[in-house]
Amino acid sequence: MKNRLNAIITLVIISLSVNITSCDKKLHKPTKKDIIEFKVDSVLALMNIKEKIGQMNQYAGSWEITGTPSDIDNKTKLEKLKNGEVGSMLNVLTVEATREAQRIVMENSRLKIPLIFGYDVIHGYKTIFPVPLGESASWDLEAIKKSAKIAAQEASASGQHWTFAPMIDVSRDARWGRIMEGAGEDPFLGSRIAEARVKGFQGDDLSKEHTIAACAKHFAGYGFAEAGKDYNTVNIGESELHNVILPPFKAAANAGVATFMNAFNEIDGVPSTGNRNLQQDILKGDWNWDGFMVSDWGSIPEMITHGYAKNKKQAAQIAVIAGCDMDMEGRAYEVALEELIKENKIDISVIDESVRRVLRLKFRLGLFDDPYKYCNSEREKNEVFTIENQNISRDVAKKSIVLLKNQNNILPLDKNTKRIAVIGSLADDKDTPIGNWRAQGVSNSAVSVYEGIQNAVSKTTKIDYEKGADLGVGERSFLVPLKINKTDKSGFTKAVKVAKTADVVVLVLGEDAFQSGEGRSQANVGLAGVQQELLQTIYKVNKNIVLVLMNGRPMEINWADKNIPGILEVWQLGSQSGNAIADVLFGDYNPSGKLPVSFPRSVGQEPLYYNKKNTGRPYSSQHVTYSHHSDTPNNALYPFGYGLSYTSFDYTNLQLNKKAIKNNEPLFASVEITNTGKRIGKEVVQLYIRDLVASRTRPIKELKGFKMVSLKPGETKKVSFSINTELLQFYTANKKWEAEPGDFNVFIGGDSRTTLHETFELLKE
Ligand code: NOJ
Repeated sequence: MKNRLNAIITLVIISLSVNITSCDKKLHKPTKKDIIEFKVDSVLALMNIKEKIGQMNQYAGSWEITGTPSDIDNKTKLEKLKNGEVGSMLNVLTVEATREAQRIVMENSRLKIPLIFGYDVIHGYKTIFPVPLGESASWDLEAIKKSAKIAAQEASASGQHWTFAPMIDVSRDARWGRIMEGAGEDPFLGSRIAEARVKGFQGDDLSKEHTIAACAKHFAGYGFAEAGKDYNTVNIGESELHNVILPPFKAAANAGVATFMNAFNEIDGVPSTGNRNLQQDILKGDWNWDGFMVSDWGSIPEMITHGYAKNKKQAAQIAVIAGCDMDMEGRAYEVALEELIKENKIDISVIDESVRRVLRLKFRLGLFDDPYKYCNSEREKNEVFTIENQNISRDVAKKSIVLLKNQNNILPLDKNTKRIAVIGSLADDKDTPIGNWRAQGVSNSAVSVYEGIQNAVSKTTKIDYEKGADLGVGERSFLVPLKINKTDKSGFTKAVKVAKTADVVVLVLGEDAFQSGEGRSQANVGLAGVQQELLQTIYKVNKNIVLVLMNGRPMEINWADKNIPGILEVWQLGSQSGNAIADVLFGDYNPSGKLPVSFPRSVGQEPLYYNKKNTGRPYSSQHVTYSHHSDTPNNALYPFGYGLSYTSFDYTNLQLNKKAIKNNEPLFASVEITNTGKRIGKEVVQLYIRDLVASRTRPIKELKGFKMVSLKPGETKKVSFSINTELLQFYTANKKWEAEPGDFNVFIGGDSRTTLHETFELLKE
């Protein structure tokens, strides 16, 4: 159905452009962008103050709660919708529900400005993909883009216009529950993944039916919460902010991300939601980004609790001036903005600017052309959770698995193994692989590891399953705290019995889906409950164990690393989890994943990351006064970039084409990589640099490139990287992004520990 308002605007624009061209023949034909700007201004000119504030107001539907429910009742919401005082809704699910909410606005409001519907489509809509941290372990940008694309197809087929994803907070703390939602600890990898996800969701044209608007969140610093405790204070300096936290956001902005979300946390005493420097100066100013900023759920009034605003009115004033364009369920804008304008505490131009940004996206999405274009029940029936989407999910899932240990080549297993014992409640769990932030992923809908193994082995293989012990007990859902079984070991005896007679034990341990995610920070990151005891009990009767580690965060698994011959990190892999795991267990897929985050030896090492600073005292063999813990080595148990294969790779002959370059002159680094094992395999070749002396101290290594190569046994390939001077830039003491002359090390290898390196100099101008 065409919107009448749109027809009026089109007439205005046609006459406008006719006027422009008749005044000056040389003036260009209006571009698509110009036309949208004309339309935005035309609508804005028709709006009264209540309608403008309405566009900045977002309500949750009562269907699904992903935050603290607001005090507004449904009757009032309905009235506001009818009056055109709501610009957006979140968590309104299904085509039927979005159609109805849209109808209320289109049939009752004066200007008939369509709603934009948002939802947390984080790793799939109904076809669930690996949790984002797990998917990042694939280092496969095409696969990541594809998964976002499928999520967008399914969400758009179900009435959604906008996802609150990707979460691109760099995080280096395994304790933080939301580490599962991001791309890990590295700003370079995080930036490339942010671009891939944004492009996957948005495609190249937001007006196309299968695309949805993306949202880069949480701006900024949310992943740096003190002690890894969700919502906690963040204290970081300028260098860390610019060099570590902001790059993925800048990459997302450059990739055209439609929206940003600010964050619950404060940075250096200023809540992100009210942070003018971040939102107004950097994002909208320096980066010239033209999308809109939504608050996090209730984060505007939370500035009162932070002790930064005395009431909603002041909170609204601070947020809007800081550049927050839409209030998610905070009810601060709707109660305070009109009064603030009347009192001249906010200039109307500030409101106009926010509204303009919201309308711009609605035009880009084509909502003014057809407010119901995403409300197609046929699409909802036919395009969601399809076999094709399941197959793609399985493909991404198997690529996300990381082989952590493979002593004596215990893996891959033989499909004709006589007897396999499958142990652990997670092995038979069809729900945990769906992970947290599961959108419309149906509970208990994943293929379990047990099922995956059954699907893969030969008819003669006998599989004995025993859970051993439960992990999570009682109700498991988004807002309810998870209870862990810490006492019940009654299933151990049966598990020991099947382990005794098995040729190999596949033991699935790790974390419940609701151990990670929002509000799920932990002070311990080892195996919770009685799992460690189960592992050691089984080990006593059968040492031939493959530990399948299913989790949403890096874990502390020292004992397993020392004693268990085979360890596979499988994260929470989504709908096809069990089949993907079996693909790797039995060698149909040779694992190629690499860790996007360091695994600690002890939680006391957190925050732990490879791209650390050297300090003034990195190491001494003579005395104790150097930077270390006296009870734990300094390095990670499994470092960033690490992951084994069923074959092996050898790196030799690192070469640079020059020993010195001028600014803007490219440098080429190459290496030879040989498959020294017996299977065809894929390897992620990683390029790191170190800027040896700089105006601000630089990390001892920084990822600056990666390429995936496939090699047959015995095959050697030369892999080259171009290092342009842009890659050498950082936020210097001059408060600018620039490359400083001096010496640099270039490292290439299969993980962040690589020592193979060469040196070059960036010459002075
Ligand atoms: C709060 C979370 O922090 C944010 O990431 C999410 O998008 C909103 N709730 C909406 O569910």
